[in-house]
Amino acid sequence: MIALKKAFCNKEVYQTKEFSRWAYGNGLSSEEQYLIANYLDRSKKTVEAGTGGGRLLLEMSKLGFTSLYGFDYLPEFIEVAKQRDVDSNIDFQVQDATQLNYEDCSFDQILYLGQMISSIDDELGRLKALKEAYRILKVGGTALFSFLSFDSRLSSALYRPYVEYIRLLRKLRGSNRSIQYLPWLRFEKRPNLAALFDEGAHVYWYKLPEAYQLLTDVNFDVVAFGSRYQLSQGRIHESLTTLANEPIRGMLYFVCKK
Ligand SMILES: C[S@@+](CC[C@H](N)C(=O)[O-])C[C@H]1O[C@@H](n2cnc3c(N)ncnc32)[C@H](O)[C@@H]1O
Repeated sequence: MIALKKAFCNKEVYQTKEFSRWAYGNGLSSEEQYLIANYLDRSKKTVEAGTGGGRLLLEMSKLGFTSLYGFDYLPEFIEVAKQRDVDSNIDFQVQDATQLNYEDCSFDQILYLGQMISSIDDELGRLKALKEAYRILKVGGTALFSFLSFDSRLSSALYRPYVEYIRLLRKLRGSNRSIQYLPWLRFEKRPNLAALFDEGAHVYWYKLPEAYQLLTDVNFDVVAFGSRYQLSQGRIHESLTTLANEPIRGMLYFVCKK
């Protein structure tokens, strides 16, 4: 009898190898600081999807945000988040982004950062999560998204050879899995050797026009976007044409309206 190796899914990755990193993190990245300062209002009702141990919301609470909510599909993360929120300022719940319990139009601001959509295992799940995001946002509300960037991975001298190696490996194995699904290369800074065999959980790396199209397909109005490269310089674009002449480095960030 052939013993089939169980495919690792992203939920298991977060529950085990990537748990501490996302449960106990602190501080804000410069991209998060830029988006919060330029697009969010401290007095508005705000939810974070895939909050982990609540890092982002706890920092936003320190910045004076008064109506904060967060959800994650792992009860273990929500338990840590509640413990860290010593004054119980934030409403943390266990929920799955693909099927939320919040009422329609519940929030003025929704944050889907931490590349959460990219870590949903299948295409239908990612689409459902985006539709749910749109549903829970108020008309006129603001949504922030980040996605893993395939263009950025391909333009890296370090990662491109790996992508080409995986492309060849899949061809030899007769696998038709899209090259935009790539295995985790590291877990909490340690190399993941299974990535050499194209094994374990995979995350989905978006092309910029693809992520843009997906957001508009679910009816978001995309108002600004850029990669970490642009945001770290305090800049953001409003048209695909102007961004086309610039490097795409690091994650992709989108600011949307409903
Ligand atoms: C990269 S971590 C980011 C954690 C946190 N937002 C931060 O930046 O510190 C992604 C988080 O998304 C959560 N997540 C992934 N898919 C989810 C889903 N379908 N529903 C809810 N949470 C999800 C994971 O459990 C994990 O906590």
